[in-house]
Amino acid sequence: MAEPTTTDSAGSKVREEAIARLKAQGAWNTTMDRRRFFSTAAAGWALFAAAFGGLASVFGAFMAPRVDFGKAQTFRAGSPDKFQPNSVSEEFKISEKVWIVREAEKIVAISTVCTHLGCTPNWMGDEKKFKCPCHGSGFYGPRPGVEAGVNFEGPAPRPLERYKISLTADGQLLVDKGQKFQEEKGEWSNPESFVAA
Ligand code: FES
Repeated sequence: MAEPTTTDSAGSKVREEAIARLKAQGAWNTTMDRRRFFSTAAAGWALFAAAFGGLASVFGAFMAPRVDFGKAQTFRAGSPDKFQPNSVSEEFKISEKVWIVREAEKIVAISTVCTHLGCTPNWMGDEKKFKCPCHGSGFYGPRPGVEAGVNFEGPAPRPLERYKISLTADGQLLVDKGQKFQEEKGEWSNPESFVAA
């Protein structure tokens, strides 16, 4: 079997140096040594390639955009009349990740994504609050004198986000998740962030 040369790659050079070291130690004498060396090296390279491939796919998944461009950003939520004053509808929590909340004077579409680290809070009707199961953040539900979605306990640094909501020509609520409104930026006063109830 011909020994590897240093002509064309760093890998060849490394092998050449390893063989030279083994020869200097008197440990490179037989054909079996060569076979063992090359099979070990091949296994090492295969292991490295598999590990690198795995890391590359994890990195690719991390860098990929989280928005599903194939899914519509708007949906109809039905007639405003079906939402009672000071109520939270979970009808679209699973399918759209949105709560439709009717406060005393307006209807809003609230994102179900916790502003701490992105978990999904639960609506606790008895306590009139959204409670995140991950680290305990709490957000107000609709109640007199308080805006629904405002954070008041736990590590969440800001209120839940709201989405654009409007009325269609035939009187249906239309939610547009492509446009969001953040309380800390003063955006909840934007008339596109609610529908008057
Ligand atoms: Fe909601 Fe941490 S993700 S409290």
